[in-house]
Amino acid sequence: MTDLPDTMRALVLPAWGARLELRELTRPDPGPGEVLIRLAASPINPSDLMTLKGLYSVPADPPLVPGLEGAGQVVAAGAGVLPKTLMGKRVACASAAGGLWAEYIVLPFDRVVTLPPDLPLGRAAMSAVNPLTAIALIDEARRRGHRAVVSTAAAGQLGRMIRRRGAEKGVEIINIVRRAAQVDALKAEGARHVLDETAPDFDAGLKTLCTTLNCRMALDALGGQMTFRLLEALGPRCDILIYGALSEAPATLHPGTMIFKEARVEGFWLSQWLPRKSLPAMLWTLRQATRALKGGFAESSVARIVDLAEAADAPAAYAADMSAGKTLIRLSDADLGVAPGS
Ligand SMILES: NC(=O)c1ccc[n+]([C@@H]2O[C@H](COP(=O)([O-])OP(=O)(O)OC[C@H]3O[C@@H](n4cnc5c(N)ncnc54)[C@H](OP(=O)(O)O)[C@@H]3O)[C@@H](O)[C@H]2O)c1
Repeated sequence: MTDLPDTMRALVLPAWGARLELRELTRPDPGPGEVLIRLAASPINPSDLMTLKGLYSVPADPPLVPGLEGAGQVVAAGAGVLPKTLMGKRVACASAAGGLWAEYIVLPFDRVVTLPPDLPLGRAAMSAVNPLTAIALIDEARRRGHRAVVSTAAAGQLGRMIRRRGAEKGVEIINIVRRAAQVDALKAEGARHVLDETAPDFDAGLKTLCTTLNCRMALDALGGQMTFRLLEALGPRCDILIYGALSEAPATLHPGTMIFKEARVEGFWLSQWLPRKSLPAMLWTLRQATRALKGGFAESSVARIVDLAEAADAPAAYAADMSAGKTLIRLSDADLGVAPGS
């Protein structure tokens, strides 16, 4: 580890809601069973925006380094045979504790996934959170016997993945967006059913579609009033899976509708769903996601790539224009293999 610097640059959140600060921190060393990763890139996700506001489930209080997923190269390994097998490998990684908006991170060796040689680091950086969630949500729909599903925030990267994964697995998606231009964009991509939640006839149109398609499930990334609107539109014995809180408002439910429809409303969190899988099932899920990152259902659009030193205001810029695509924070001079607009 002699050729590695003693310090690293990182974006630090000094207090909930405060502006990020670029700071020089001590570079961590890997302990037994751990690897040190020189990070190449990490995206900004809605979960990061919530972390910055203190609304996400992170185990520590500020000051903290945000960033929940990324990709890079293993440059040092702690004691143990298995960590050493990863030396020099290009890997994707995720950490529920954050820490990815930095030049280096130490993680347990079993928290990293080695990458196929042709997978660009910029794509691999977005491999954990959304692709696995799209697989999980469509799996959940199929497991419960649903062949038609309403999906909110459908112009986002995960919404688009849900639509493409649904098409692969025979689940019809009713896509809900919030701007007329997003209706056109999704239809141009091949979406059959797209509704604008701001249109005056939205609720009636959604109810008609749900009846026509016998749709009794919704995947809800919004909460707030949308959960109530979904419940009103879905058929009886419906399921609503709330997996996002983009409205930042409490989900509204009408007890009468809940009772007479015998509705079930549940939360979904990937961090709980994935560890419940057996090791073979987990590895199979990871493999499916990795294979679909380039040209498959799990490909994300990249709107911006911002150097670490310039990234303090990048979360705000991303929040103002989310459907345009992901913002990647560049954490080293490694070739990311993606360009803005791709
Ligand atoms: N539970 C889990 O395990 C899990 C895992 C992964 C992701 N998620 C959640 O999935 C959601 C989508 O993530 P993503 O990566 O796809 O985000 P994204 O690419 O940034 O897209 C977000 C989308 O939501 C729309 N949106 C934002 N605020 C909204 C609001 N108040 N009302 C209606 N639409 C709104 C945006 O539209 P505009 O462009 O018009 O703003 C955009 O189309 C997030 O809530 C994220 O936290 C959850």
